[in-house]
Amino acid sequence: SRQLNLLGQPSALVKSNLYFRKEKMKTIIRNPTIVTASDTFIADVLIDNETISAVGVELDVRDATIVDGEGKYLLPGGIDVHTHLDMPFGGTKTCDDFYTGHVAAAFGGTTTHIDFAIQPKGGGLKDALNIWHEKARDKAVIDYGFHVIVTELNDQVLAEIAELPAQGVTSIKMFMAYKGILQVDDDTLFKAFEMCRDVGVLPMVHAENGCAIDVLVKHELAKGHSDPIYHALSRPAKLEGEATGRAIALAEVAGSPLFIVHMTCEESLGQLRAAQDRGAKIYGESCTHYMFFTLHDLDRPDFEGAKWVCSPPFREKKDQEAIWKALRNGTLSVVSTDHCAFKFDGQKSLGRDDFSKIPNGVPGIEERMMVMHQGGVNDNRFSLNQLVALTATNPARLFGLEGRKGSIAAGYDADLVLWDFKAHATLSKENLHSAVDYTLYEGHVVKGVPQKVWVRGELVVDGETFLGQPGNGKFQPRKVFEV
Ligand code: URP
Ligand code: ZN
Ligand code: ZN
Ligand code: ZN
Repeated sequence: SRQLNLLGQPSALVKSNLYFRKEKMKTIIRNPTIVTASDTFIADVLIDNETISAVGVELDVRDATIVDGEGKYLLPGGIDVHTHLDMPFGGTKTCDDFYTGHVAAAFGGTTTHIDFAIQPKGGGLKDALNIWHEKARDKAVIDYGFHVIVTELNDQVLAEIAELPAQGVTSIKMFMAYKGILQVDDDTLFKAFEMCRDVGVLPMVHAENGCAIDVLVKHELAKGHSDPIYHALSRPAKLEGEATGRAIALAEVAGSPLFIVHMTCEESLGQLRAAQDRGAKIYGESCTHYMFFTLHDLDRPDFEGAKWVCSPPFREKKDQEAIWKALRNGTLSVVSTDHCAFKFDGQKSLGRDDFSKIPNGVPGIEERMMVMHQGGVNDNRFSLNQLVALTATNPARLFGLEGRKGSIAAGYDADLVLWDFKAHATLSKENLHSAVDYTLYEGHVVKGVPQKVWVRGELVVDGETFLGQPGNGKFQPRKVFEV
């Protein structure tokens, strides 16, 4: 009987069982067109457990699950270094948590993200990390890391910055806007930059002049201007340019590198370019949506413009062109999403009678790779390799994940996207996976979609089917900044 066999041959059975399980973990992707930041070539990719174990032509492998990659691209999984999941903000909380946000990310071909952990009022940076680890741990489907948002700096908090790398966190963010809520002053920025310089932490800033914006918002409200468009009109591009220049000057004097998040306009991009020309280690990010919409979208009737309320605001056509150019010529290093999803019903609607009460932020974690491939590659603004650089390789390099994530090579985590560049999709709330009740890209047609997505060797998306397991996504400790 079965039982007798079990008793009679325990070691053989255990052995063959293990063997079986191990072999099952091997997958070979045959003949995809592999795309990295520097190369495009056809080869096989062997996944062994969580890792890419070989990349080569006609790999001789038995007992592996075979995936036919012919006629498709194989891209490194997207890395989105700017997201806000499960975040209290604007009197409410973002509607995607670490499960729904991760499912959406996975369907969009993003396999790692770095979220912002906010220093709580009266608390420290470790408190921030504890809170955010708790939010993510049991829900995560894709891999994740954290930046810490510094909201109040005293000597103790300053010392905590030095302790971040030991906790796997090598970047902090500060806000020059959101006066009275998250904004910090110049002495805070400067002291933090000096500490970052000494301990290998990359500081990031949201660069807008929050003090002047606060006055302009009050002027508009006093005039009875309550519609969403006044959000954009009270945050002029010049005030992003000014804050960008100020942050860069402070970083240069402190001798620290600096990463400027969500850059939107000619004014700030000019500051970035000039600093880079001086040889300063200043890096910039823009976010997907700024290339596809303008401030005129905030003028959509029936309060619909509220869906486009985020900070910095949408700009003009000329600014979109400036961003595309900066992506093409390398001035900007990263495209991320600033995914900060609030439902139109019940959340954006908090500001129906007062634009300043509309929670700031837009969704996009699932759409990023598809619309950047469409607008960037299909529309001939930059190459496929640049798409990979902007959405995976550069983010990995700047944020301490290089050597593990952001490329396709033996030894790297098997974070992979089999990309069907011939397939069309019409983006719609109906076929996207975020918990939010709209997409900015409703009706946009893209050619090129993720077909299969692996996170550390686990197939999490197969066509329309989600196969991921909450809890399988893992916190990624990051290396100190040394670019
Ligand atoms: O409007 C935005 N961007 N909301 C998220 C917070 C931030 O400023 O990044
Ligand atoms: Zn911001
Ligand atoms: Zn205009
Ligand atoms: Zn943000």
